[in-house]
Amino acid sequence: MAMHETVAQRIAALRAEIEKHNYQYYVLDTPLIPDAEYDRLFRELQQLEAQHPEFATHDSPTCRVGGKILDAFTPVRHAVPMLSIRTETDISDAGALAFDARVRRELGDPDAVVEYACELKFDGLAINLRYERGVLVQAATRGDGETGEDVTQNVRTIHCIPLHLRGCKADILEVRGEVYMSRRDFERYNEKQRAQGLPTLVNPRNGAAGSIRQLDPALAARRPLSFFAYGLGEVRGWALPETHSAVLDALGKMGVPVSDERAVVRGAEGLVEFHRRVAAKRDQLPFDIDGVVYKVNSLAFQAQLGFVTREPRWAVAHKYPAEEQMTVVRDIDIQVGRTGKLTPVAKLEPVFVGGTTVSNATLHNEDETRRKDVRIGDTVIVRRAGDVIPEVVGVMLDRRPANAGEPFDLFKRLGGKCPVCGSAIVREEGEADWRCTGGLFCPAQRKRALLHFASRRALDIEGLGDKLVEQLVDTHLLDTPADIYDKRKLDLQTLADLDRMGEKSAQNLLDAIEHSKQTTLARFIYALGISNVGETTAKDLARHFGTLANLMAADEARLQQVPDVGPIVAQSITAFFAEAHNREVIEQLRARGVKWAEHEGERAEALPLSGITFVLTGTLSMSRDEAKERLEKLGAKVAGSVSKKTHYVVAGAEAGSKLAKALELNITVLDEQQFLQMLKECEAT
Ligand code: IVH
Repeated sequence: MAMHETVAQRIAALRAEIEKHNYQYYVLDTPLIPDAEYDRLFRELQQLEAQHPEFATHDSPTCRVGGKILDAFTPVRHAVPMLSIRTETDISDAGALAFDARVRRELGDPDAVVEYACELKFDGLAINLRYERGVLVQAATRGDGETGEDVTQNVRTIHCIPLHLRGCKADILEVRGEVYMSRRDFERYNEKQRAQGLPTLVNPRNGAAGSIRQLDPALAARRPLSFFAYGLGEVRGWALPETHSAVLDALGKMGVPVSDERAVVRGAEGLVEFHRRVAAKRDQLPFDIDGVVYKVNSLAFQAQLGFVTREPRWAVAHKYPAEEQMTVVRDIDIQVGRTGKLTPVAKLEPVFVGGTTVSNATLHNEDETRRKDVRIGDTVIVRRAGDVIPEVVGVMLDRRPANAGEPFDLFKRLGGKCPVCGSAIVREEGEADWRCTGGLFCPAQRKRALLHFASRRALDIEGLGDKLVEQLVDTHLLDTPADIYDKRKLDLQTLADLDRMGEKSAQNLLDAIEHSKQTTLARFIYALGISNVGETTAKDLARHFGTLANLMAADEARLQQVPDVGPIVAQSITAFFAEAHNREVIEQLRARGVKWAEHEGERAEALPLSGITFVLTGTLSMSRDEAKERLEKLGAKVAGSVSKKTHYVVAGAEAGSKLAKALELNITVLDEQQFLQMLKECEAT
């Protein structure tokens, strides 16, 4: 405390300071001080308030940790009803065109080019925040639109919601928006719960809705929620701007979180364009959305258009195909992976989800299946987002039939044997997965290993796909990757005679095989399919050792000198090369003409960014893949997470925890412009 500062002044100063840091951290995502320093300020305020209860107020940041437990929520009658929006069911462009045509007609000017504010349709829970003279006094749910529930205590625990508006003392300003849980926070919360053996959340939406309607605010405070404003309720003593987009801009200036993913567009084409643009990045957004919302931007036009029953004529929601659906588990199968990993897979009543029909969904492993307690006959929620493989996210326990199956037990189910080759199955101490011990004796593992070897990022043999490998392994034409290059086994006639082949595709395949012989050391190492050696590790190994002989000769200690190679990876590598069988296959591959330029590693040293590690975060105007490729061409390494070994963090728009980590570790952060400049300079040399 400064010399002449009174307790009241110190409390006020601490509150302002803490709220400033909340805003920096939770809204702008650019913390100014380390967490420890923030915690110190917070504890000081808590102590002062405890010693001087006369100064305690509801708008202090200390209220954000949760207050007293409630018996029930008090009903709140909304001063202005909370409406819903009409949903355009036609998910093609026709939906946007029809909306625009209707608006022009109802405005009485069919030829007008109308300006629209386009936003995301956040998938959470609608909330009304009531600020009186700039202070948050009440938060309420939508309820039936007329009357909601008072959830003020819980909403105060949401750190990004300002307790005071900046520079706004309007008599009344009601801010409306959506409380949601980000995907990152959802994952983290579930991880923590899992670690403690506590129940997990099914999806971020349920997480948000459940926390807000939680009677114990301390429990609500444990669940990390966020908020985006999308409109207003009652307003008194504040001069409204002329457009909806200007309203959101103004709210943003007051410290209320407003999404950056919005646009002001003109006419139906603008709507279609926005819909398309957002669809393309839906999976990369840090939170779930279920569509976009179009609003007539002019508030005067909005007033002119008015409402039909409970829906405004000036807004419409344009949805995307749902990424989650309910369906029934018919059976649980167990699949054998490339390294013998046994994965339980739910066989489903087919459902349309995320844009395709899904009839299989992964259950990941035994523990996950048991934790979710998925049983045959259960009704489950299936999720398919983007290109990610469909997964079962949870069971609707209230719909479990009386004759549902037993709790899942992988060993019992398989009678202790691999379902494909009959070898024993094992689950090692500390491992999450059961494995088949059959190795390459097991046809399932052989098939996967061959597919991996031929995959695009490995030896890239176009045309050597699922169905073909299946036939070739079943007829013993292919046993090991070396057989691919054995002209006595795969000749034109043999291939042309296979199911669904023919001379033309057989010749194409032989050409692709021939072409694949010239490869790189990194691709070759990756193609071998050594456990725990992915593409990045393979590149690192190639760069470090320069030749395959050097790599094969390295012991675990030498292997661990490679960045990011720890004891587990090192052990996998030595175990792989210790197998006589593996060494023999490598010999054969080389004898049959598979080759690469050795010592690529040494050449890499001469590149402008050799030895420099980058981490990319946030959205850049080029794709992640492109940024990565350009950096790697310059000799740099691109890592997935920030550590002391990181040299630069490139932070695009909406960079999150990686940026925070970089600041914490004092690592140089480049914004997009600086990054592009660096690329340009290096590429010029
Ligand atoms: S505007 C008068 N904008 O969607 C218009 N709603 O039925 C009032 N929602 O549960 C709503 N994102 O919470 C609006 N950008 C957005 C929205 C949004 C999500 C939710 C809202 C409500 C439902 C509307």
